[in-house]
Amino acid sequence: MKIFIEKDYDAMSEKALCLFRHFLPGIGVLGLATGNTVLGFYERICREYANGNVSLKGIKTLNLDEYFGISPDHRESYRTYMNTNLFSRVDINIEDTHLPDPGGDPGEAAERYNAVIDSLGPPDLQVLGIGQNGHIAFNEPMSPREARTRVVLLTQDTIDVNRPPSGAAITMGMKDILKSRRLLILASGKSKAEAVSNMVDGPMTYKVPASFLQDHPQVYAVIDEEAASRLDVSYIKEQNRRYSEFSGNPELFDV
Ligand code: GLP
Repeated sequence: MKIFIEKDYDAMSEKALCLFRHFLPGIGVLGLATGNTVLGFYERICREYANGNVSLKGIKTLNLDEYFGISPDHRESYRTYMNTNLFSRVDINIEDTHLPDPGGDPGEAAERYNAVIDSLGPPDLQVLGIGQNGHIAFNEPMSPREARTRVVLLTQDTIDVNRPPSGAAITMGMKDILKSRRLLILASGKSKAEAVSNMVDGPMTYKVPASFLQDHPQVYAVIDEEAASRLDVSYIKEQNRRYSEFSGNPELFDV
C-alpha cells in the first residue's frame, strides 16, 4: 500500500486528481464511490474537464453500491449523487454508467449487477472511501472477503453517520473490489483515524473489511493529516521521501 499523507481535505483531493490524471490513459473501466470524501476529487475532475485538460470519453463506469428499496431518482440515491456530481458534468456517456438496481427482487438485482461486472471486467482503477467502522462500499464489518454483490442491512453505526433513505443497500462484494487493477482510497478527518489505522496496521480481518486491502498489490491511499493521526506518519513520510529521491518524481514517486 502506498500511503500519501496530505495536509487537509483540499490537498487530499488535489493529490487524488494528480494520481487519477496519471492513471487516466490506461482506464477503460472506472470504479466509482460515493460519499462526502470523494466530492472534492470529483469537483476537480469536472473542473479539469471544463478547462479542456481531461476527457473521460469512452470510459465505462461501475459504482460500488446503492441504497435498496428506493427509486433511482430519489434525491438521496447514489444514482442522483453520481449524475449531479460527475456524470452530467463530463463527457461520459450516461449509458455507460452502471449502478446496482435499487429495488426489485434482491437476489435477482444482485445477479444482474454481477453480470454487469462480469461483462465489463474488473475496473482498471477503483475509487474508494472508507466508513468510520472500516466498511468499504457497504461491506460492513463481518463481510466475507469472497462475497459478491448482495443486498445487505446497514449497521446502526452507518445509519447514524449516513442518515440513509433506506436501512438496506445493494453492494459490490470485497471479492470483485479486490480484483480491480488499482485501488485509490481517500480518507479525511478525525472520524476516520481509527478505521484508517485498522486498515493499514491492524490484523486482516472480516471485522474490518478495509483491512483486506493490505493484500492488494496496487493500493494508493490518500489520507489527510487528521485521518492519518494514528499512523506512523514520520516513517511513512521518510519512506516517501526516499522513493521520490530514487525515482526523481516527487509527486508520484514509484507509481
Ligand atoms: C458510504 C459509501 C461508502 C463510502 C462511505 C464513506 O457508506 N457506501 O462507499 O466510502 O460512505 O462516506 P464519506 O466519504 O461520506 O465519509
